Amino acid sequence: MLEKINALLAETEHFFAKTKDELEEFRIKMLSKKGEISNLFVEFKNVPNELKKEVGQTLNVLKNKAQEKIEHLRIALENDEVQADLDLSLTSYPSNLGTRHPLSHMRNEIIEVFTRLGFVISEGPEIEDDWHVFSALNFPAEHPARDMQDTFFIEKNPDIMLRTHTSSVQVRVMDNQKPPIRTISPGRVFRNEAISARAHCIFHQIEGLYIDKDVSFADLKQTLLYFAKEIFGAETKIRLRPSYFPFTEPSAEMDISCSLCGGKGCNVCKHTGWLEILGCGMVDPNVLESNGIDSKVYTGFAFGMGIERMTMLKYGIKDLRRFFENDVRFLKQF
Ligand code: DAH
Repeated sequence: MLEKINALLAETEHFFAKTKDELEEFRIKMLSKKGEISNLFVEFKNVPNELKKEVGQTLNVLKNKAQEKIEHLRIALENDEVQADLDLSLTSYPSNLGTRHPLSHMRNEIIEVFTRLGFVISEGPEIEDDWHVFSALNFPAEHPARDMQDTFFIEKNPDIMLRTHTSSVQVRVMDNQKPPIRTISPGRVFRNEAISARAHCIFHQIEGLYIDKDVSFADLKQTLLYFAKEIFGAETKIRLRPSYFPFTEPSAEMDISCSLCGGKGCNVCKHTGWLEILGCGMVDPNVLESNGIDSKVYTGFAFGMGIERMTMLKYGIKDLRRFFENDVRFLKQF
């Protein structure tokens, strides 16, 4: 009997099936109720006691090997079948790749323009103290921006707050570097405002600061004109209107000719032909002195803009809330 088992073991080992039918034939021969292995188990009763152990073990090995071999060949044949069905000329499934957020696009574009002019990026913390957000920037003690209405204070501590503008990074840069300074600071800012189509309590700004000997208002104007043309097109015109910021003197707000109607007048520019895009000015000598820079030797200019606003103007987006909803149908368009 041992001989018979060993013969079947060898047969199992060498067996190969090219078709499912051949495999099924082998399975019936080996493992069916009336197959070789069942018959051997029936005959096993007649094996003399002293051989039972060896024969029993070998018989079990045969059974396991046969089962393994059949399972192995079954899987291989199924895979072959799948491959035979493959149509390699079919196009692949569309894969849903993520896209960059429109605010990131805009931020990167703005950064790229200024880095071409030699500006380097600097960043600062979102949780700031009064000195960096207000005092070092020449905000008077009673300035309304310091009010709870506008500023989120941490734990009602009037000294620790979420920064309301990226101008705070100017102060950090002046803390750590000596002129010449040429830097832009992108980042998130926070204001206690009701959320609407035009305002949000979280938004993004880019701040610019340039300090050196003999920096003039003409340098500011030329830099911003170049920037506006790069972002909104070569035809773009700029205009500067006098304004007020505590940290710049003189201060201005800059408009660009409406990028949608080319200055003729439309709904977006409210028929004025102009769009306001940023605040700017010459760094107030008080700010330079507060930050350890000699205002008799150095002058500088600064500017700050909202990334949301720039993106809305560039792409004609009417509702600021779209940027924060993360609706894929909106995001996919950029
Ligand atoms: N920090 C101002 C704001 O949040 C924007 C700004 C205006 C920044 C004029 C400047 C500047 O650097 O010179 O409204």
